[in-house]
Amino acid sequence: MEKIISFSRKCAEKNDPWHRFDHLEMAASNAAMIAEKEGADREVCEVAALLHDICKAEPGDHGTSGAEKAKGFLLSIGLGPGFADRVAEAIHFHDKESESRSPEGAVVWDADKLYILTPKGFITRMAPYWITRLGEQEGVEKAVYEYYFFRERINTKTARGIVERHSELMGRIIAELGKK
Ligand SMILES: [Fe+2]
Ligand SMILES: [Fe+2]
Repeated sequence: MEKIISFSRKCAEKNDPWHRFDHLEMAASNAAMIAEKEGADREVCEVAALLHDICKAEPGDHGTSGAEKAKGFLLSIGLGPGFADRVAEAIHFHDKESESRSPEGAVVWDADKLYILTPKGFITRMAPYWITRLGEQEGVEKAVYEYYFFRERINTKTARGIVERHSELMGRIIAELGKK
């Protein structure tokens, strides 16, 4: 695990401030928690979450390139091809819609999106990320759009429960933003 963490940390240095190692670390701890509750393979989920954005700074589809890079790395440190493939599959689909996610892919998707669907994550990560890219008005609109987009696409009962618990406050925040 130590080797995987330091690889993740090193790759994430090139990412924008919202996708650095702290994001990967948080996704991994969410993934472990959700995996345990949902009965998915905790190790696959945790490793995939730790590595899911290692190609975020590169042009093109970072799920596809990240999956390949992660697989190569995991094989190079002696992990088995079966494990590496399962991790790669979850990374590959973390940024794509899919009708047939593996249970681990479903957990990693949720673990990646969970924080931005809570008030703290929405305000400190989702909104600033889009405002930086699109300006204040359009950035806020995009962040609100993304909130509802990802909320509808949460896979697991565990993550849905957490999102639900925050939904009333999120509704008030969004209503307030609409008045500005
Ligand atoms: Fe990503
Ligand atoms: Fe991510």
